[in-house]
Amino acid sequence: MKLLFTLFLITLTELSFAKVSEQNVNPGINQHYIGATYQEWVEIFERDEREVYNQRHAVVKALKLPPASDVADIGAGTGFYSLLFAEAVGPTGNVFAVDITEDFILNINRRAQEQKLKNIHAVLSNEKDTLLAPNSIDLAFVCATYHHFEYPQTMLASIRRALRPGGKLVIIDFRKQAGLSSDWVMTHVRSDKQSVIKELEQAGFKFESESNLLKSNYFLWFIKKQ
Ligand SMILES: C[S@@+](CC[C@H](N)C(=O)[O-])C[C@H]1O[C@@H](n2cnc3c(N)ncnc32)[C@H](O)[C@@H]1O
Repeated sequence: MKLLFTLFLITLTELSFAKVSEQNVNPGINQHYIGATYQEWVEIFERDEREVYNQRHAVVKALKLPPASDVADIGAGTGFYSLLFAEAVGPTGNVFAVDITEDFILNINRRAQEQKLKNIHAVLSNEKDTLLAPNSIDLAFVCATYHHFEYPQTMLASIRRALRPGGKLVIIDFRKQAGLSSDWVMTHVRSDKQSVIKELEQAGFKFESESNLLKSNYFLWFIKKQ
């Protein structure tokens, strides 16, 4: 009996180790962000030719953020979505702008202060963890960042923990279709839409719907499975 119990404990330990030791699925994908500065990236992320920037107001409208809700912008970059979310949820809501790049976080704080938005909380995270408190958000928003997750299952587990029961996850990312997408997308982006849905289902999310708002990007809605 004692031996069985010991074996059970060892198996449990191995299982949880397997989870924390997920292999890096995309080594080097974030190399440009190591030591990156806000100044060099703001012109890249916030340019009109970029669909997710150009369509930002339509995207925020489509999210239908209820006032007083708590939202996380995961991989917030230079923070233009976080700033719009902060206005949408109002002073009694909260926006967590989460990113692994320190200078982006510092400048999101600066922009929030300049715009007198007290409901933005910028979080310097790491490539395996959002560092958000459990059950602290109603919606997680991941724009152009899922393909930057080096440890997608570990990151999704972290997002799942942070979501309240019934919480939603939105993923917006490049459509990857041979013959249609650019060579850059075909090589830079790891997974196509169907593979992403599969990975999300494996991680305890249920695919709910797709918003057909964007052309170069898909816009998927998931709900946290209990
Ligand atoms: C292509 S940018 C997108 C930024 C922003 N969402 C936008 O659309 O402008 C990807 C961002 O994800 C961040 N990032 C990469 N891996 C991350 C992770 N595991 N957790 C949080 N942020 C991450 C990078 O620092 C970078 O700011």
